[in-house]
Amino acid sequence: MIPIILSGGSGSRLWPLSRKSYPKQFLSLVSAEETMIQATLVRGVQISSHCPIVICNEDHRFLAAEQIREANVSNADILLEPLSHNTAPAITLAALHALSHEASPDPILLVMPADHFISDARKFAAYIEEGTKAANAGKIVCFGIQPVYPETGYGYIQKGAALTSIADNTFDVKAFTEKPDQDVAESYIRSDEFCWNSGIFMFKASVFIDELTKYEPELVETCRTSLEQATTDLDFIRIDAESFAKVKDISIDYALMERTQNAAVIPMNIEWSDIGSWSALWQLKDQCPNGNVCVGDVITDQVSNSYIHSTSRLVTAVGVQDVVIVETKDAVMVAAKDKVQDVKNIVAKLKEQN
Ligand code: GDD
Ligand code: MG
Repeated sequence: MIPIILSGGSGSRLWPLSRKSYPKQFLSLVSAEETMIQATLVRGVQISSHCPIVICNEDHRFLAAEQIREANVSNADILLEPLSHNTAPAITLAALHALSHEASPDPILLVMPADHFISDARKFAAYIEEGTKAANAGKIVCFGIQPVYPETGYGYIQKGAALTSIADNTFDVKAFTEKPDQDVAESYIRSDEFCWNSGIFMFKASVFIDELTKYEPELVETCRTSLEQATTDLDFIRIDAESFAKVKDISIDYALMERTQNAAVIPMNIEWSDIGSWSALWQLKDQCPNGNVCVGDVITDQVSNSYIHSTSRLVTAVGVQDVVIVETKDAVMVAAKDKVQDVKNIVAKLKEQN
């Protein structure tokens, strides 16, 4: 099994710590000891002895290489995308690259986003073991999470019949709906048939390519050309920019998961977060009795249920509730905790100005 580490996202909702030049997967947001991509790499190598494939933007090549080295992961293949065209092309490039390995003709791929938190690596590994059986049986496997609120930023998987002939705790996917609107998400969480899509996938490389070719033949072909014309530079495989620019920008969820009739889901009962926003990080971290999470040089008085993060100066707050304050050398961000999804709007405004 080859771990594929997706590491090309920009993490704009975690601005001002997450930057275009230094996105969240390269930050130590949850643990001081390791960054999120390092935690993901460690989870990957605990499950599989095969060298992982890391796919990221070429702007982050040295960051990625350095952090892979620090995590003591040797011989990772690093594929560099000249631009971000979302997860379907990224996974396709990784799958085609894996198929070109002579050592393992049609490997199982375990696709892992580099910016997830999973508390219990051992329990996670047991679910992946179950997934291997379904992947070997030719299924496109996704992993579900018990939903706790009607999140509209996730995909929802409707569980069908149990696939008892394949493995325990493995179900047919009746329907997959990426990022439904609020009303639909609310109706889904009222039913116990639905789970969140964790964004982790598993399949045989050939099954993925054949299935995606049914729905997006041009995407697959253009990715093939971009990989054939890739160049090797130091330890990096640089995807050809001219052909990759023509590849459709689409996520695996829309390109494949909403369309395929060949998916299976394994519901996971684990603590998981995609750390998509400051409030997600607040939820995950140990809070003081007043509900605050303070990182760095912070003094508060009559403050509750807030996330306050200082990196270079003393930050103080008095008499506020449910706020997020994040200070860096060149920017300070203050937000209501229930509006942190809109931090990305600030990033968009900054882009307009520059
Ligand atoms: N290499 C590469 N290239 N990686 C990418 C690219 C790209 O162009 N775009 C995104 N990624 C990486 C991100 O870094 C992240 O690790 C992962 O792929 C998923 O991308 P997101 O952009 O974070 O997706 P999402 O959170 O909106 O939605 C996905 O994840 C949810 C769970 O966190 C979907 O799969 C949802 O269905 C799912 O619920
Ligand atoms: Mg995400």
